[in-house]
Amino acid sequence: MYVGIVQTEPIFGEVEKNLRHVQSLIGEKRSDLWVLPELFASGYQFTTKEEVAGLAEHVPDGPITQFLATIARRQHCHIVAGLAEHVDGQIYNTAVLVGPSGVLSIYHKIHLFFEEKRWFAPGERPPPVIDIGQARVGMMICFDHLFPEAARTLALNGADIIAHPANLVIPDYAQLTMRVRALENGVFTATANRIGTEARGDQSLHFTGESQIVSPRGEIIVRFSADGEEVRVIEIDPIQARDKSLNSYNDILSDRRPGLYMH
Ligand code: ACM
Repeated sequence: MYVGIVQTEPIFGEVEKNLRHVQSLIGEKRSDLWVLPELFASGYQFTTKEEVAGLAEHVPDGPITQFLATIARRQHCHIVAGLAEHVDGQIYNTAVLVGPSGVLSIYHKIHLFFEEKRWFAPGERPPPVIDIGQARVGMMICFDHLFPEAARTLALNGADIIAHPANLVIPDYAQLTMRVRALENGVFTATANRIGTEARGDQSLHFTGESQIVSPRGEIIVRFSADGEEVRVIEIDPIQARDKSLNSYNDILSDRRPGLYMH
């Protein structure tokens, strides 16, 4: 199975331009599963609620979802990507999983970072796992990385690979934690981060790049630069993620002692 990650530098608010740019970055490359960054087409550093509302869309009819659906249909592939979503008067920081037949799953980010708490409602459902045929794909978004329960929930629900759209601003944190999330859960992780700086309102945020794909043993299969746009497609064997044994005595999931843990 082929997994591709896209590291890009969106221009704030320029949805059409950003979509065209992602299209040109992907070009003729083919993958079974693509992972794009969080809020990859809108930009991240909102200054008012009205601004977020103007850039959010309804799924599946909005332009960003339709763009993803067109690629998925043409390439016969699956895509996980982040966007701002309108649902029943709320706005969520959402990841969609889109396949050749359209939207298969929607995840509303449950751990909101910094000023996201001003703009978005927190998700109220666990991060989902979706069987796309070649693999079972779990979704989480950016800051979810710092909460081991998110990745653990995905692993316990059978994920082989965690697709992780991100807009990371704290250097090195998620590059480290996602190696640990992969290792402690025996899953592949694919983090697609963005680059560049957004200086809007009284905040300036710099995004840290270094998107990466990690093996179930915590090895970095590929890691991008901190400051360049990049696209890479890697071959993985998702079945490797189904063997959770460490040795003849230990299994990293069934050795857990949930009755002794705090909730
Ligand atoms: C983040 O959750 N975008 C840091």
